[in-house]
Amino acid sequence: MKYRDLREWIDQVKAMDQLQLIHGAQWDLEIGGLTEIICKKFKPPPALLFDNIPGYPEGHRVLVNMLDSVERLALTTGLDPQITPVQFIHKWREKIKRLSPVPPTVVKDGPVLENVRTGSQVNVLEFPAPRWHEMDGGRYLGTANLVITRDPDEGWVNAGTYRVMVQNENTVSVYISPGKQGRIQRQKYFDLNRPCPVAIVFGQDPLLFVAASTDVPYGMSEYEYAGGIREEPISVIPGPVTGLPIPAHAEIAVEGEMHPGDLMPEGPFGEWTGYYASARRSEPVVRVQSIMFRNDPILCGAPPMRPSVGQGFYRSLERSALIWNALEEAGVPDVTAVYSHPAAGRFLTIVAIRQRYPGHAKQAAVVAGQCRAGGYLGRYVIVVDEDVDIYDTEEVLWALCTRSDPERSIDILRRCWSGPLDPIIPKGRKGFNSRAIIDATRPFEWKDEFPPVSEISNALKDQLEGKWRALLSGLAREEQNP
Ligand SMILES: Cc1cc2nc3c(=O)[nH]c(=O)nc-3n(C[C@H](O)[C@H](O)[C@H](O)COP(=O)(O)O)c2cc1C
Repeated sequence: MKYRDLREWIDQVKAMDQLQLIHGAQWDLEIGGLTEIICKKFKPPPALLFDNIPGYPEGHRVLVNMLDSVERLALTTGLDPQITPVQFIHKWREKIKRLSPVPPTVVKDGPVLENVRTGSQVNVLEFPAPRWHEMDGGRYLGTANLVITRDPDEGWVNAGTYRVMVQNENTVSVYISPGKQGRIQRQKYFDLNRPCPVAIVFGQDPLLFVAASTDVPYGMSEYEYAGGIREEPISVIPGPVTGLPIPAHAEIAVEGEMHPGDLMPEGPFGEWTGYYASARRSEPVVRVQSIMFRNDPILCGAPPMRPSVGQGFYRSLERSALIWNALEEAGVPDVTAVYSHPAAGRFLTIVAIRQRYPGHAKQAAVVAGQCRAGGYLGRYVIVVDEDVDIYDTEEVLWALCTRSDPERSIDILRRCWSGPLDPIIPKGRKGFNSRAIIDATRPFEWKDEFPPVSEISNALKDQLEGKWRALLSGLAREEQNP
């Protein structure tokens, strides 16, 4: 069912019985720690809404785990909540292929303007920004946010999810990885020795978070992309200080400027790789000039954890769809499945193909590992034949171990797109990494003589299932009620 803003989304998630309210957790490590414990214990974890946070008025809330179930992801993206994760990949591919951008509608007023603070009234610590992990270097107001900038040459607006750390009442720092669109735009201002105007939204419709944290085509605004997915425009107000578009239903937004050379120490932060790899470095800061927020504001959070624990789920499904589409756009035929494995973050992409010609597997591997969605911080691409169920890790390991011969099957690409978050690249050498592409398909030139797979045939399976139906259904019942 369509929802209008984050609050209606929360009502619908509650009706789906997927929302857990938690009262009284501290912003300092308790919100982050409980989120991690719950993500480890429950698959999928519920969305968590923290209220009555000590030191803050009742109603100043923090929401996490927004998109960590396929039902919530489907609700957000307008798909059928009954679909499976693999069906989501297929539906998302189709949806984004057909997407026509819908520009936002500019409105004069909206709930985000219920409270406005400027000048000496600005205090970002009015909101319960958590310190998420024990070794974090500060409180992070932004983890599921929108950092909004305008390209100074081309005029289009980018909105990216980039982490935001509190430095003091009116200063926050923003970490943007090299190559991300917000960083390219900011650098254009700095190269002209001009400040970069910025608006940052810290609580919003989860669809905008989806758009801001995914690879939207270069030059397309995330507002247009989200509008295209919803098939109706997003309402925005022009920020009073910067004129940048801010969602009219945003929960919390700030505006300010980043100045060339104005840096402060940022991090360490528990990152999506499962490490504090980028340590503490100097990063550009935003001098905050205004804050807007709704009554009883809700701060959205997506604290990174080890990818196998949480937060990787929805990105893995979306990235799988994007990489699959990129393979298709590059003209690689007969791709039968793509999986950016959630336990590996961006580090592992698996592709299944129906081999048609010599070199087909290598072509698929290189494109999957270097297209926009698969290029940043990848490590391994494994290509298998179409008979392998790549959504089953055991099957992938079986194919890898039986159809690849390391000497012949592995190629290394050097000096690829990495960044400060890469844990295996030592400090001082960060920036590039290498990639292994592993061809675990049956060798093309003798694939027809490759040893046959030892597995019951469909014909025998059907015959035995018919004959032994009573036994098999009895066993299935016992499994359900042991
Ligand atoms: C929860 C979450 C946090 C993220 N934090 C950062 C971050 O701190 N810095 C960064 O560069 N990218 C971060 N990303 C990844 C970017 O949001 C993502 O690559 C996005 O596509 C970037 O947008 P752009 O293509 O407009 O640059 C994060 C993604 C998620 C889901």
